Amino acid sequence: MKRVFSGVQPTGNIHLGNYLGALRQFVELQEDHECIYCIVDEHAITVPQDPKELRKHILDVASLYLAVGVDPKKSIVFVQSDVPGHAELGWVLNCNCYTGELSRMTQFKAKSHNKESAPTGLFTYPVLMAADILLYDTDIVPVGNDQKQHIELCRDIAIRVNNTKKKTFVVPEGRYLKEGARIMALDDPTQKMSKSAPNIHSRISLLDDPAKIKKSIMKATTDSEGVIRFDPENKPGVSNLMNIYSVLAGVSLEQIEKDYEGKGYGDFKKDLVEITVNALAPIKARYEEIRYSDELIDILKDGAARANAIAKPVMQRVKDNFGLGLGR
Ligand code: TYM
Repeated sequence: MKRVFSGVQPTGNIHLGNYLGALRQFVELQEDHECIYCIVDEHAITVPQDPKELRKHILDVASLYLAVGVDPKKSIVFVQSDVPGHAELGWVLNCNCYTGELSRMTQFKAKSHNKESAPTGLFTYPVLMAADILLYDTDIVPVGNDQKQHIELCRDIAIRVNNTKKKTFVVPEGRYLKEGARIMALDDPTQKMSKSAPNIHSRISLLDDPAKIKKSIMKATTDSEGVIRFDPENKPGVSNLMNIYSVLAGVSLEQIEKDYEGKGYGDFKKDLVEITVNALAPIKARYEEIRYSDELIDILKDGAARANAIAKPVMQRVKDNFGLGLGR
């Protein structure tokens, strides 16, 4: 069985982009893969975090994993900092990655706002991400398109180490969906939907109430043509909404075009509100059940123990191949 690893940062509310680009894949893959899903709290501290809020967000994201359908009987769910191998392997990989490679990362450029000095953790963030993946001999990494550059770097580091040391790592593949891999901001369809954008109407969070969902969708940027047609280049706003509609309702883009021929954006948006509210209602209900249950903590503790058991021999292999420690 192939092994899958992925992670989500515990920062802010998980939104439709995270769900349609990544979490949806997590649920699908667990049926016939060995899946490991992580809440990457060590990544979150690359930008300032309030400790109390961070702890809360860790449990929020863990609950959302379960609420969207990740099944702890099929998948391992755990918190990154509960497995020491991530930071440990991160260091070894830092010694096998170059500042030139990291300087090219577009997310670093965006997050550091091209400032001359930025936290080192923000700079080496993709190396920790590579450690997350390589620590489990991962074959497949389900993510949204925005992580492509990081996955390529992870592959480069793995290949480099395998070529210079003994074969140490499994070289993973990214897995990106055709539709949903890049959900755009509702207020500015040239930007990806993100947790950190100041305008709350730029995104739909999985826990938004129906009134907020309605407002965000009805306000969403479209264009003046008034025709529902999929054309991401010339009609990015409408195409983004069509993408969301298509995935949530399970209707093809062509069918949407046919169904809305002669109709305006108002009708289309009203239907999209209904589809979105109906799709998110069961997730919200399950979230409420799980979030404050003792079961959640047990699942995460059990997940950490199972993740550690897989990580330990891989870390020992790394130490052996690099000559670290006393050996066995
Ligand atoms: P994060 O927390 O920003 O996002 C979690 C997942 O959601 C996807 N995503 C999107 N997909 C489609 N449209 C969007 N607008 C959108 N925004 C986010 C992301 O691609 C991601 O799959 N660096 C990662 C977390 C991470 C990780 C890992 C992932 C750390 N270690 C190891 C995989 C494997 C991140 O910040 O994701």
